[in-house]
Amino acid sequence: AAMDSGAARKELNIPQYTERLEARLGKSREMMRVVLNKAKSNPKRVALAEGSDEKMIRAAYQLAEQGIADPILIGNPKRILRTAEELGLDFDPTIANPRDGEWDHYADRLHELRQRKGLTRNEAEDLIRRDTNYFASVMVEMDDADAMLTGLTHHYPSALRPPLQVVGTAEDANYAAGVYMLTFKNRVIFCADTTVNLDPDGEVLSEITKHTANLARSFNVEPRAAMLSYSNFGSVDNEGTRKPRDAVKLLHDDPEVDFPVDGEMQADTAVVEDILEGTYDFAELEEPANVLIFPNLEAGNIGYKLLQRLGGAEAIGPMLVGMDKPVHVLQRGDEVKDIVNLAGVAVVDAQNEDEEEDENVDE
Ligand code: ACO
Repeated sequence: AAMDSGAARKELNIPQYTERLEARLGKSREMMRVVLNKAKSNPKRVALAEGSDEKMIRAAYQLAEQGIADPILIGNPKRILRTAEELGLDFDPTIANPRDGEWDHYADRLHELRQRKGLTRNEAEDLIRRDTNYFASVMVEMDDADAMLTGLTHHYPSALRPPLQVVGTAEDANYAAGVYMLTFKNRVIFCADTTVNLDPDGEVLSEITKHTANLARSFNVEPRAAMLSYSNFGSVDNEGTRKPRDAVKLLHDDPEVDFPVDGEMQADTAVVEDILEGTYDFAELEEPANVLIFPNLEAGNIGYKLLQRLGGAEAIGPMLVGMDKPVHVLQRGDEVKDIVNLAGVAVVDAQNEDEEEDENVDE
């Protein structure tokens, strides 16, 4: 049965238009333009947890000005307005001030969600007033915002934990993961997991692969996934190489998986057509992979950074996949353009969720 579904997936392989699109959209600026234009067709409310941060204010200005999103800056209004003025930004931003006492229902909600995780009502109130990552997470969870961005001024795990606790994973997901889209001159690849799961087993890897393939499709890229390792198809057998191999088996046995995926394989096997066609012509991949799933967080984080810095790739990310609502955690030092791009991705994600809901209502 596994063979049959594999053959079926091969037939489905990359419609020609996608190939042309990939070649044409080889530059991230062009790929992002498509996403940002889609965002503009129906902008959504994006909560910016670090609303007092200068880069966030600049990004909010651009998002509002270009009609990509309706930004909500979370923080102290006086400080935000003063900074906006100093920056010479002429706009009237939407601001939510966690300290102004109108947010008891947010504290109630946070308490309700976390009371059996040891959180008292007083502690919930304190988190809502003092930690804007909790505030923004509850805002999204209660549908007062459609998406959330944070991370510029935080250590990554401490910005990630509140949305994991409050927003959580999607109904069909158990794990979130961080994906980078890297674009080269004539090629685009999606790398995962680059930011969340330290030591994923086969099950986690298989789920990450599915989320990342879906994300690729949302950029009009037809996924071809490779499970990376330092071993090629069983050439080394130990605990480390078994995890990606287990993941491939799970994916091959999963009737819902409708994209080619194989491994475990070395990185050059995954991206060099001659190796795939020669030594490993039995592999499900007939063309180089564009979804690269790394065996653990060390490999993923190191790998994408090397590609970005030495390979001259443009990087968009980290895009958090598997969450119940669009949430993205930026990295310290990210630029205004990174915020704008991730907000655009979040808006399109929120639009897609709306469409899915409409379809469900129709059924
Ligand atoms: N996917 C989805 N939810 C998760 C995941 C996951 N992979 N891991 C934990 N959670 C949930 C838990 O279920 C828990 O929810 P609950 O309290 O409702 O049950 C909540 O998140 C917190 O989980 P803990 O186990 O208490 O938290 P932990 O301290 O393990 O934090 C975290 C989870 C933050 C993801 C941790 O695994 C981590 O630090 N990962 C690495 C992050 C990192 O350093 N990335 C690299 C740096 S990124 C860069 O380049 C700067």
